Amino acid sequence: CGIVGYVGPRDAVPVLLEGLHRLEYRGYDSAGIAVAGGGGLQVVKTAGRVGDLRKAVPDGTAGAAGIAHTRWATHGEPSDRNAHPHVDAAARVAIVHNGVFENSDRLRAQLEADGVTLASDTDSEVLAHLVARSAATTLEDAVREALAQVEGTYGVIVMDAERPGELVAARRGSPVVLGVGEQEMLIASDVTALVRFTQQVIYLDDDEIATVTADGYRTSTTDARATSTTRSPTAIDVVSAEYELGEHPDFMYKEMREQPDAVDRCLRGRLDHRFSSARLDGVGLSPQDYQRIRRVKLLGCGSAYYAGQLGAQLVEELARIPADAEPASEFRYRNPVVDPDTLYVAISQSGETLDTLAAVQELKRKGGHVIGVVNAVGSTIARECGHGIFLHAGPEVSVAATKSFTTMAVALAMLALDLGRVRDLSITEGRRLVTGLSELPHQIAQVLASEDDIAAVARKYADARHMFFVGRVRGWPAAREGAQKLKEISYVHAEAYQASELKHGPLALINPEMPTVVLVPDDELLAKNTATIEEIKARGGPVIAVTDAELPPGLATDVIRVPKAHDALAPITLSVPLQLFAYHLARALGRDVDRPRNLAKSVTVE
Ligand code: G6P
Repeated sequence: CGIVGYVGPRDAVPVLLEGLHRLEYRGYDSAGIAVAGGGGLQVVKTAGRVGDLRKAVPDGTAGAAGIAHTRWATHGEPSDRNAHPHVDAAARVAIVHNGVFENSDRLRAQLEADGVTLASDTDSEVLAHLVARSAATTLEDAVREALAQVEGTYGVIVMDAERPGELVAARRGSPVVLGVGEQEMLIASDVTALVRFTQQVIYLDDDEIATVTADGYRTSTTDARATSTTRSPTAIDVVSAEYELGEHPDFMYKEMREQPDAVDRCLRGRLDHRFSSARLDGVGLSPQDYQRIRRVKLLGCGSAYYAGQLGAQLVEELARIPADAEPASEFRYRNPVVDPDTLYVAISQSGETLDTLAAVQELKRKGGHVIGVVNAVGSTIARECGHGIFLHAGPEVSVAATKSFTTMAVALAMLALDLGRVRDLSITEGRRLVTGLSELPHQIAQVLASEDDIAAVARKYADARHMFFVGRVRGWPAAREGAQKLKEISYVHAEAYQASELKHGPLALINPEMPTVVLVPDDELLAKNTATIEEIKARGGPVIAVTDAELPPGLATDVIRVPKAHDALAPITLSVPLQLFAYHLARALGRDVDRPRNLAKSVTVE
């Protein structure tokens, strides 16, 4: 979910709507706004998108302060009633909440026993009532008292119609950032919502609370001692133009097209031509530290997990260190054995995915050494890890990861190279990799230049109800990410299998209505992959080969060719056409590619 707050001389309504629009990628099943003006609170909320909310806001709605929310449902179906902001019975206190109150059932029961009628099915609403019932003399203390009663995670903003010039925000587990403007203040769940208005921000820490007025802010701890915390603003380096669509039809398209530049930025200053290695100062480990690493474990969710799988292969291949990737959510819940000689790598575009953050916290508690591979500078995971590699991909707005996936793979390739070069990877092989990495931006640009051909193939298969994506070894993580892209944005059922596993079951599903995308890297397994294509063809299945090899004519039904990269880096160039394939297939089906149903870009709840 996304939250925004504003207090200052402007009318809060357009500022809040603009902020919500920017945050929509965090959830978009309902949205709402509350402003203080005209002697009370005006609350408008609706199921649907921010665009629907904009239409629903009556003319004349205005105020000097307000809060707003765009939701990704956890408790309670998306509906007007369940949309935030939530208010107390007297409609005096309004709240927006990102996170989950785990003890909300108990709190609801207590409130109901006291005669309070709750208006929604959400876990969040209880907070509005708890704040309203507090006898504290300041809004901040009332929020403090209320938060002492809830268990779970939150990023909240609270307002009180009787104190219209003031907002109170607090965080535990869900991000909150204050934007410091000229005689105005903003609050949001991430900087995306603020960049249009200010570049000066303060990231709240967990268990920190802030009271914000047009003139400034005051921060302290949420516990009863209310120890004051001194916080000064830092400047953010994103420019607001990076959030504009420009001439592009949607953000996914824009972000795919930005990949050559994004990869170039990710590599910039990090290729060490003299030692034929990578220079990753942010990792904060010496060659001696590197020598002590016995395993590498990569953690992430969704596309970040698949990038981690690709990274694990690179680490094993280049550094000969045992490595594997695991979904961060699984890791955190299975009471992992944390090993001091393992390097843990947490991978996240947003730096806010709760499952990944929780895995980092669990690791740190158990004494594990964890670094971040993160895009969003200043994000919670980046700060929690302290060290790592920033992707420098620029803001990614579309739900489907594209440039973040590619730059994650590039960053992990550099890490693998660096680890390799303090071990057995020769200077000659190191040099080939450095060259291979520096060629990637151009090669990706070449893939993008063949978009029309890829789009034609995608449209040809737009009627398929199911699709397989298969690959082996280097092609396997790319196949998984390709299937993920297709299912996310087109809703076509797509499954990824290791090529060799086909014959152990899934081959039974092959028929002329089941197209298979086969990843065919031009490496030592080429013959095996052509054999896989033959196996599928023999069962009447159409085959789309995605390859950097010269395949015999007529072998596959359709061929998508990419430039030949260094063998170890081929999964990166092979992944890019799969994004375009998914994109054009989804467009042919009329899907909203930037906002696929049921998903959100940044999942800051469990
Ligand atoms: C969500 C998004 C995915 C993304 C995953 C991890 O599920 O829909 O596209 O890969 O979160 O996000 P992160 O920001 O941690 O990379």
